[in-house]
Amino acid sequence: MDFRGRVFLAPLTKGGNLPFRRLCLRHGCTTTMSEMAYSYQVVRRSKTELALLRKHAEETCFGVQIAASKAPDAIAAGLAAVERGASWIDINCGCPIHDVVRRGMGAVLLQRPAHLGRLVAEMVKALPVPVTVKIRLGWSEDDKNASDVARIAEESGAAAIAVHGRTREQRYSRAADWEWVARIASERSVPVIGNGDILTWYEAEDLWQKSGCASIMIGRGPLMKPWLFREIADKQAWEPTAEERVAVYRQLAMFMKEHFRDDAKGRERAMRFLPWHFEFFCRYRPLPAAQWREAAKAHPLMQTRMEAGEGLSVLEQLLRDPREEVHGKIAGELWDSVDDCDAVARLTAVAAAFPPVSGEAGEVATAHG
Ligand SMILES: Cc1cc2nc3c(=O)[nH]c(=O)nc-3n(C[C@H](O)[C@H](O)[C@H](O)COP(=O)(O)O)c2cc1C
Repeated sequence: MDFRGRVFLAPLTKGGNLPFRRLCLRHGCTTTMSEMAYSYQVVRRSKTELALLRKHAEETCFGVQIAASKAPDAIAAGLAAVERGASWIDINCGCPIHDVVRRGMGAVLLQRPAHLGRLVAEMVKALPVPVTVKIRLGWSEDDKNASDVARIAEESGAAAIAVHGRTREQRYSRAADWEWVARIASERSVPVIGNGDILTWYEAEDLWQKSGCASIMIGRGPLMKPWLFREIADKQAWEPTAEERVAVYRQLAMFMKEHFRDDAKGRERAMRFLPWHFEFFCRYRPLPAAQWREAAKAHPLMQTRMEAGEGLSVLEQLLRDPREEVHGKIAGELWDSVDDCDAVARLTAVAAAFPPVSGEAGEVATAHG
């Protein structure tokens, strides 16, 4: 496993489900990661947690991320993931959620670097695949210790370090700090994977080059436009029409049908995920690259980069609609559609039933801030 020269799909709880990862593979992604699995739940053989370790045959370079605080659990979970085809195991050291940190996992590991070092070392000793860590810059603005954490991780045997350029306290309230990411990349000899706010191919290129990172990782970008991987590889934007986007979204529904099964139970399970994806899909804006570049400079936070659209088709307006009930309706029609044309016809009918509320649909607050 070479951690250099790659564009990683970030670990994304709920979003990084297997059908979505397949969709990313279709659009140029080569390196996927699982949703975060709780190691203690894997040890208890929890069905939902074990399901998170599963990979699709098309995923040839697949890393499993675990949340862990104790080495025996981490090793057992790591071995279960390796049995199921994981190419490497990543330890989550950035999850800010209270329930995770109070159990000694996620971002709290940043506050206990020596403990993290021992955890990494024991995993490296026991597992037959590389072990990586995904960190934030620190717990808070006053406690940015990513440099020390990264050094300890490397000295303990971590094969690569992914750095999300924010602190635990920041959540998504500020732009990712790539100067810090660059600093860590310059200090370490293991590959550093830069992460945070990459939404376009040219940001990927700029930040990758300027930071000196070995690789980059993208999360919300592909959640909004799964074709971002292809754009980065081709150094060129793809600005799909509403109809072309319907085909992409329908592909996800079809992958969900294969994964969850094409029956009432499968539909019910898929509907826990498919409508959720539209929270992100609805933020896509087909802006020309030059304009987008300006907008990105003016508003480094991606959730503020929304432009008003005029003269939009009803289908385009529907795809930008932020309402949950609309997302549920879109998901149901995609599931029931027989082909892409049928999906477009069905969604055009939905658009008539759900006219936009006022102004431009799509003024969504960030969901994961
Ligand atoms: C819906 C969602 C779920 C996430 N789940 C995880 C997770 O399970 N593990 C993790 O390390 N980071 C998780 N993250 C953080 C991302 O992996 C990534 O570090 C962060 O979003 C910054 O990258 P981006 O600007 O490209 O999105 C999640 C982010 C989002 C938006």
